This record gives sequence, structure tokens and C-alpha cells, in this order.
Amino acid sequence: MENNKKIILSGIQPTGVFTLGNYLGAVRSWKQMQEDYNCYYFIADLHSMTIHIDPQKRRQQTREAFALLLACGIDPEKSLVFVQSHNKCHAEMGWIMDCCSQFGELSRMTQFKDKSSKHPDNINAGLFTYPALMAGDILLYQADYVPVGADQTQHLEFTRDVATRFNHTYGEVFKLPEGYFPKAGARVMSLQDPTSKMSKSDTNPKATISILDDEKTILKKFKSAVTDSEACVRFDPEAKPGVSNLMTIYSAITGKTMEEITAEFAGRGYGDFKTAVGECVAEALRPVREKYEELMQERTYLEEQMRRGAEIADKISRRTLTKTKKKIGLLLEK
Ligand code: AMP
Ligand code: TRP
Repeated sequence: MENNKKIILSGIQPTGVFTLGNYLGAVRSWKQMQEDYNCYYFIADLHSMTIHIDPQKRRQQTREAFALLLACGIDPEKSLVFVQSHNKCHAEMGWIMDCCSQFGELSRMTQFKDKSSKHPDNINAGLFTYPALMAGDILLYQADYVPVGADQTQHLEFTRDVATRFNHTYGEVFKLPEGYFPKAGARVMSLQDPTSKMSKSDTNPKATISILDDEKTILKKFKSAVTDSEACVRFDPEAKPGVSNLMTIYSAITGKTMEEITAEFAGRGYGDFKTAVGECVAEALRPVREKYEELMQERTYLEEQMRRGAEIADKISRRTLTKTKKKIGLLLEK
């Protein structure tokens, strides 16, 4: 990838099948960005270790997440796709970043505060130093832009702080990454509680659309989506969060504006509207599901792509890692 395109880097945790939210909010734009940027995407399996998962399940989910990225249109001929732990530079850089991070600043991370209060039985050190590992992921590749959701912007800010401090103390090594917020990125809310975001970890299966759901399931979930009693399709996230969420989804897929959608469903009930949203979602996800099923049958192809991705990732990131080690005075092996 020797060209002068800017570098985009992002990671996604292998903690379950992507939701329609991941797809419309993130992965779909990752696909579009492949044309204009050098894109590096990875499955953040090291990050997923902060939660306890059955080891067999973790392996399976990592394989699935990798196949899902390809199924969503990430093309390994255009982009770099790999599994984080396959490139050992991440673990090594993670430790260096740990030593460049302050207890105080890590203590201020809202995700740490949230997660540690929600799971008081497993406040592991990894959960605390997670942003340092993430900083390493980003800085290793000299990324220009990092597309992240709102929950990760603080970690990106932290990355910039660590990089600035390092460059200042030891000399310029790291490029300062910026957030990237794709215009087309939609924030998708839960179908059952439209004031909270659609999330993989939701325990109510009716609340989320998995990108592997079949047409019948998708239509059923949209039929039971929470709306209101006004019977008017108009965009008002405050007063009508349910309907507005459905409009956001419909708009993200069809490209229609909110005004166009209101006009289209004027005088028609929510039933028609929900069916239309369900149908367009099912139609958009069908090729993803079919491609995924095909890929999961081709284990050697997947393994070959992972191996190739890891090799390229190592080659790119090792340059920065070696420079970093030199700057901090680690004796390099000859
Ligand atoms: P997560 O599933 O929490 O690991 O999220 C991975 C990325 O997917 C986030 O950084 C967001 O950019 C995106 N994402 C997740 N859930 C949603 C959602 N409900 N709406 C929009 N984007 C989402
Ligand atoms: N922390 C991110 C999340 O949970 C995943 C992630 C790990 C990441 N390393 C990254 C995202 C580097 C962007 C860049 O969503």
C-alpha cells in the first residue's frame, strides 16, 4: 500500500454478532472508505480479554468477527484486515504505553468507571489499562484518522495526550490521530427502548437486529418495535424516539430524507411503515448473510487471509515499534 492516501484505522471487539447499529453506524462506512484511504481494520481480541468468555467461544467469535468484516464488504485486496493478537507488536507496544500512562488519567476514563461499577466482580488490571493498549494499536500504524463511536472518543483523546507527551519527552515518533465521523454514520437505538443504543450485549433479543437475522425474524422484530400512539410518521427524537429511530434506519438504507419519509407514509398507519423498514433492512442484509455463510464454510481461505493480514500488519507496525524502543532506550537485539 505504498501511496500517499491517508491512513484510517479501527478495531472492533469479537464479542458477538454485529448488530444493525454496528453495521449502519460503523462497518458500512468502513467499506465505503476503502476507496479513498489506506484502511487498516482489526478484530480487537486482546481488548475482549477484559471480560471473561469461555475460551472456545472466544476463538469462535474471533473467527466469526473476521468473516463478518469480509462479508460486510471489507476487501482484503484493498484493505488490511487482521486479528490483533496475531501481530505481536500490539502486546509489546501495549506495555510501553502502560508505562507512559498515568494512574490519574486512566482513573478518569468514563468507560472504566461504567464497566467497573457494572461488573464489580471482575475489575481486572486490563480493564483499567485498556486505553493504553488502544493507544498502542493506533500509534503503531501512524494512523491519520480513527472512526470511533461516542463511547470511544475519550480513549482517542487519551491516545493523543500520550503521543504528545511521548514525542515531547523522547522526540517525534508518533503521528497524532484524529477522530473520523462519517457523514452517513447513523446512530441506531434499541427497538424496545429507543432511548438507549442498540447494543450487542442487550439481553432482550427483540431489541436488536443481528446482521445475520433472516428476513422473517427481521420483519417480526420491526413489527414489535416500540413506537407511540400518535400514528404519524415524523422525526422528533425527543417526543417520538421509537418512530424517529425507525426513520433513521429507513433513511440510512434508502438515502431518503426525513421529509421524504414523512410524505411517503402520510395518512398510513405504523403497520405499513414498520413493514417497509423491515423489508429494506432485510434486503440490505441479505447479501451480507449469504456471503458470511459462504465464508464460514471456507476455513482455509479465512485462515490464509488472517495469516496474510498479520504478516502485513507486522511489517507496517514494526517500523514504529523499533523506533519507539530505540527512543526509550531498550537495547535492540542485533
Ligand atoms: P461495539 O459493538 O460497542 O464494540 O461497537 C463498535 C462500533 O460500532 C462503535 O465504536 C460504534 O461506532 C458502532 N456502533 C455500535 N453500536 C452502534 C449503534 N447502536 N449505532 C451506531 N453505531 C454503533
Ligand atoms: N476499544 C474499541 C471498542 O471497544 C475497539 C478498539 C480497540 C479500537 N483498539 C482500537 C478502535 C483502536 C479504534 C482504534 O469499540
